Amino acid sequence: MEYLQPKKDGYFIDGTLGGGGYTSALSKAVGENGKILAIDLDEQAIANTAKKNLNNLVLVQDNFSNLSSIIENNFAQGILFDGFVLDLGLSSFQLADTRRGFSFREDSPLDMSFGSSGEDETTRKIINNWREEDLVKIFFTYGEEKHARRIAKGIVERRRLARIETTGDLAEIIKKAIPRRLCSEKVHPATKTFQALRIAVNHELESLEKVLPQALAVLKSGGRIVIISFHSLEDRIVKDFFREQTRDCICPPEIPLCRCSHRASLKIITKKIILPSEEEIKINPRSRSAKMRVAEKI
Ligand SMILES: C[S@@+](CC[C@H](N)C(=O)[O-])C[C@H]1O[C@@H](n2cnc3c(N)ncnc32)[C@H](O)[C@@H]1O
Repeated sequence: MEYLQPKKDGYFIDGTLGGGGYTSALSKAVGENGKILAIDLDEQAIANTAKKNLNNLVLVQDNFSNLSSIIENNFAQGILFDGFVLDLGLSSFQLADTRRGFSFREDSPLDMSFGSSGEDETTRKIINNWREEDLVKIFFTYGEEKHARRIAKGIVERRRLARIETTGDLAEIIKKAIPRRLCSEKVHPATKTFQALRIAVNHELESLEKVLPQALAVLKSGGRIVIISFHSLEDRIVKDFFREQTRDCICPPEIPLCRCSHRASLKIITKKIILPSEEEIKINPRSRSAKMRVAEKI
């Protein structure tokens, strides 16, 4: 809130409604003449906030990567906003919902899609159909899992016998694939693989890449973009986008004269990345890997 600086009558976009914490705070700050566009792929997230009957919200169940068309369908042409926020990843509600398959601590169908299951590629399909090399690639790049090869091999060997259907099955295969002496005591051996699968199933990096230019285009001058990410690949996307948009010319260095006519449109507000304080991590351990970056439209 400190970086978004919501004022009375302001218009804001919360691209990741989740449990509605940010949206409720923004809704209160802008008052009855302001508006908050709140987006989530998750039907339940939309339904939970709809119950609160806040009359300055526009709730949309969609992927935030469709931001331009969402705005076109819900607002007057040419509308501009005072701020845009994303709090990426999955919500505590989703993690706790045993039917969604996000948690390896429960035995539930392998799904992990943010939207309604069955429509998108589900984790079950990836685990049972993808080639071993492709599994290695996602575990390694999205999960930074150094045992990616062992895990992918374990999955492929096991699925030759029977399809892998549940989070419990998968967690067990992963546990067996990593020699016990190499397992961390603090982190469950399936943590990184589950994260990698979630990122792949939901095309999380692609959605983030797509939304940033759309968000910039609908901000007023002085409007803020606040992005909270939980993964170094996400943070890299945000950092690179912010950097590029602070530069006038973005031609490759080997081109001596500018041909791009690109003009800087952002000013970086957080020169150093904002991390949670130790106190916050104590109260909310899930915040431990959060990284916040803020920029302002020129
Ligand atoms: C960490 S939670 C947000 C929590 C929220 N800030 C709050 O105050 O409760 C992230 C939410 O973003 C949603 N989400 C993730 N990627 C999305 C996308 N590409 N489009 C729409 N919603 C998305 C998830 O379904 C989840 O509900």
